[in-house]
Amino acid sequence: MAAAIVVKIGGSTLGSHDTTLEDIVTLQKQGRAVVVVHGGGKLITDWLKKQGVASRFVQGERVTDGPTLEVVTSVLAGLVNKDIVSALNSRGGRAAGISGVDGALIEGRIAEREKGYVGAVSRVNTGIVDSLMTAGFVPVIAPIGLNTDGRAPGEPATLNFNADTIAGEVAAAIGAERLVFLTDVAGILDKSGALLPRLTSAEAQAMVTSGVASGGMIPKVRACLRALDGGGTTCIVDGREPHALVRSLAATVVGTTIEAR
Ligand SMILES: Nc1ncnc2c1ncn2[C@@H]1O[C@H](COP(=O)(O)OP(=O)(O)O)[C@@H](O)[C@H]1O
Ligand SMILES: [Mg+2]
Repeated sequence: MAAAIVVKIGGSTLGSHDTTLEDIVTLQKQGRAVVVVHGGGKLITDWLKKQGVASRFVQGERVTDGPTLEVVTSVLAGLVNKDIVSALNSRGGRAAGISGVDGALIEGRIAEREKGYVGAVSRVNTGIVDSLMTAGFVPVIAPIGLNTDGRAPGEPATLNFNADTIAGEVAAAIGAERLVFLTDVAGILDKSGALLPRLTSAEAQAMVTSGVASGGMIPKVRACLRALDGGGTTCIVDGREPHALVRSLAATVVGTTIEAR
């Protein structure tokens, strides 16, 4: 399925992304195929707190033990996913919520022992996404996936994946024309905090290597590089700005565009 736009909605912008949801419905009504991938960072931390489970991060990723995985799955595939899908449908869109478990969309393995049940992607099976798009739905994807690659006895059947990584992998797998990250900063900032409107893939990689792009920006840059490999275009924009999504698809340059080269 060609010409799709993959949109990643950040956990930190959830709740203040009303125009993003409006924009998604607008694009759908224009006949464009849109796929949404969402995170849920803040809400997961709130719910873990309610359950008395502490949050710990290694290299920007949540260390996921058994009880954490239960909360992550409930919040991502439940609360956050249904919140986004119901908001899209009540605005006149046609959306259907799935996770990477559904249709075996995301198959993976344990990334690193020290991060617990955090997944690395081994394979993307795009059938369910293609089917939903063909039927006229916006697939809304929660970043939970299957633990199928070398699963040891006693390990859970599902894993917690970084939403940015899933967005990049899905964009590459479906051959999306564009991958847009909506986040809570203006784009990629340099050392002095100035916005960088355009970066080549090599320059973006260098931002990560030098540590100027750190924490939550790292998986976004990596996902952009992955999507560029798949032949798409990519950008990271400020989801707090009204209609950032629609504007990012118009000629006006907003946020940071990472270009192949
Ligand atoms: N060079 C950089 N430019 C912009 N943001 C950066 C940079 N390095 C690290 N960051 C951090 O990345 C964050 C965005 O990632 P994250 O908090 O995971 O948001 P999201 O919920 O959108 O994934 C920014 O809020 C900022 O703190
Ligand atoms: Mg993040």
